[in-house]
Amino acid sequence: TNRTFTMLKPDAVNKGYIGAILEKINAAGFKIVAMKMTRLTKNGAQEFYKIHEERPFFNDLVDFMTSGPIVSAILEKENAVEDFRVLIGATNPADAAEGTIRKLYAGSIENNAIHGSDSDENAAIESAFHFSGREVFSEDI
Ligand code: GTP
Ligand code: MG
Repeated sequence: TNRTFTMLKPDAVNKGYIGAILEKINAAGFKIVAMKMTRLTKNGAQEFYKIHEERPFFNDLVDFMTSGPIVSAILEKENAVEDFRVLIGATNPADAAEGTIRKLYAGSIENNAIHGSDSDENAAIESAFHFSGREVFSEDI
């Protein structure tokens, strides 16, 4: 079993989609091994999205991600990173496949409801950014 990291973004939390999205995640076979509601600070969001520092949308992204609470979680499943990226769908909901979380719950390329790690390495980095060891309830540690 391996792991991925996710955040339900401020738009999804604000619209009341936490329950519906978690339902999809569980139905797809992911096990939640850590979860909490927090709000990113500006420094925290800049750090988390450091790889996008040079992109033109970076400041908008930081403003959006700090605009309200998020729900962050660590998920376990075989092939977790890749399978979760399939479940959430394309970055732009207009391009996302039918039935994906972004197709169902995202409003725009920026307000796109959910994050999913893009590699095992980033899943580990992002999980450690949001959770301490004592907050992770896994039999696989
Ligand atoms: P994450 O799972 O959130 O990392 O999304 P992703 O991997 O599908 O996309 P990427 O890492 O390339 O971009 C990170 C986030 O920046 C996206 O999820 C969007 O919220 C935002 N973003 C990406 N591209 C654009 C863009 O062209 N314009 C704006 N405004 N935001 C963008
Ligand atoms: Mg990404």
